[in-house]
Amino acid sequence: MAPKTPLNETIETAFAERFACKRYDPERDVDEKDLRTILEVARLSPSSFGLEPWKFLVVKKSAALTDELLERAWGMKRNAPYTVVILARKHMEPENAHVEHMMADVQRATPENMAQRQAMFASFQKNDLGVADDPRLMFEWSCRQCYIALADMLAACALLGVDSTPVEGLNYDAVNALLAEKGLMDPKEFGVAVAIQIGYRDPSHAINPKTRQEAADVFSFVE
Ligand SMILES: Cc1cc2nc3c(=O)[nH]c(=O)nc-3n(C[C@H](O)[C@H](O)[C@H](O)COP(=O)(O)O)c2cc1C
Repeated sequence: MAPKTPLNETIETAFAERFACKRYDPERDVDEKDLRTILEVARLSPSSFGLEPWKFLVVKKSAALTDELLERAWGMKRNAPYTVVILARKHMEPENAHVEHMMADVQRATPENMAQRQAMFASFQKNDLGVADDPRLMFEWSCRQCYIALADMLAACALLGVDSTPVEGLNYDAVNALLAEKGLMDPKEFGVAVAIQIGYRDPSHAINPKTRQEAADVFSFVE
């Protein structure tokens, strides 16, 4: 095996040092350029058929919504400069307006090409993925894709030296209701998938050693 390059080292160190931040430094903000990079990485995340079944609600610490989220989210931390709530689409049926918009306007499919893609997408949802007839499965499929964006954002934070917390510790019904009530999310179209907080750890934050299974216990190689 060739020796590790500086890039190999940089990536491995960034991921070894990433941890789920439990306490943020109230004095330290995230630089605008770093926030932009983290959001750009989310925007560029891959999705099934490239149909981007998501939206990102970027909530600044100073927003009144932050406290309202904290009241409904036991896993969220105070003082993080930003909380990004990732919303997943409920309707990804081939004829859905968002799907048609993505295919026609974003991916610039021709009408014939679009009809073909929609037929293929319908068959995939029904015969392969098995989500076509169950709205909950359809939503969960969108959520799974939102978690890819979450992971990419966690990775971008790690590489930038920004601390982060993935957050599933939410009362989902309460947070969905809050965002709907505030007009920030149409509950017919979206539901909360997951959230991520970003900022810098409190200087007194203890860092526990990482607990992970050994490589031999999680990787099997087939040659
Ligand atoms: C999808 C997901 C949801 C999580 N939700 C929370 C959360 O609500 N609050 C929290 O403090 N940590 C949360 N975590 C952090 C995990 O507990 C943490 O990643 C795990 O214990 C491994 O520790 P490390 O990330 O510090 O290496 C979550 C992690 C993931 C991947």
